Amino acid sequence: MSKLNVLSPYEQFLRDTFHADDPGLQRLQAEAGQEGLPAISIGPEQGKFLQVLIQTSGATKVLEIGCLGGYSGAWMARALPAGGKLIGLELEEKHAAFTRRQWAALGLADRAEVRVGPALDSLPSLADEAPFDLIFIDADKNNYPAYLEWALRYSKSGTIILGDNVSMGGRLADPDRQGNPGIQGMRRFAEAMAADPRLVSTVVPYADGIAMGVVK
Ligand SMILES: C[S@@+](CC[C@H](N)C(=O)[O-])C[C@H]1O[C@@H](n2cnc3c(N)ncnc32)[C@H](O)[C@@H]1O
Repeated sequence: MSKLNVLSPYEQFLRDTFHADDPGLQRLQAEAGQEGLPAISIGPEQGKFLQVLIQTSGATKVLEIGCLGGYSGAWMARALPAGGKLIGLELEEKHAAFTRRQWAALGLADRAEVRVGPALDSLPSLADEAPFDLIFIDADKNNYPAYLEWALRYSKSGTIILGDNVSMGGRLADPDRQGNPGIQGMRRFAEAMAADPRLVSTVVPYADGIAMGVVK
């Protein structure tokens, strides 16, 4: 989980009451730490939020860009109905192998699959599996604008598109950081999410901020 996620007593109450990880997700996170995966996954609040979105929208096909150790994917795959499918795209073979093992251990191998490689190389091969009902972008920030274009191409009316880390740890609007490619990418992504006439969008201020748009 992100180091950004320092909780107030109230936030800790909410986590304990509404959003607690179960033993399977706790084990996933503990083993991710033991195997040296970076602690940059979403938190349980966001996982639960993704579950609520999947269930309220009736999503059956989900695409995730950036799996890390499979934590967010596990939350989402658990919310899918029988026959539902999550496809995760992940750059690092080590992360993908860990994710596969964890999803299998959680009983999700029948509905969640990870594909290895740069997402921009993998995305063109997904045309036959589109449209997706929910697309969660959580990978390299400089490519977020391109991921949004692919997400829109692979959407239909009602598809929910999400991008994590809009705040960039509070640096998004810092005038001294605007030369950073990740911040430039995130700004272009946020501006496109806000202005694209195909979307109705907002930002949910969980943790580092999640941009969320619904395709009209
Ligand atoms: C923030 S982590 C994802 C966290 C995960 N969604 C979770 O919350 O459990 C970002 C992941 O994106 C992957 N990544 C970075 N660049 C990528 C690329 N070009 N294509 C696919 N994945 C990429 C990284 O290897 C890393 O595992």
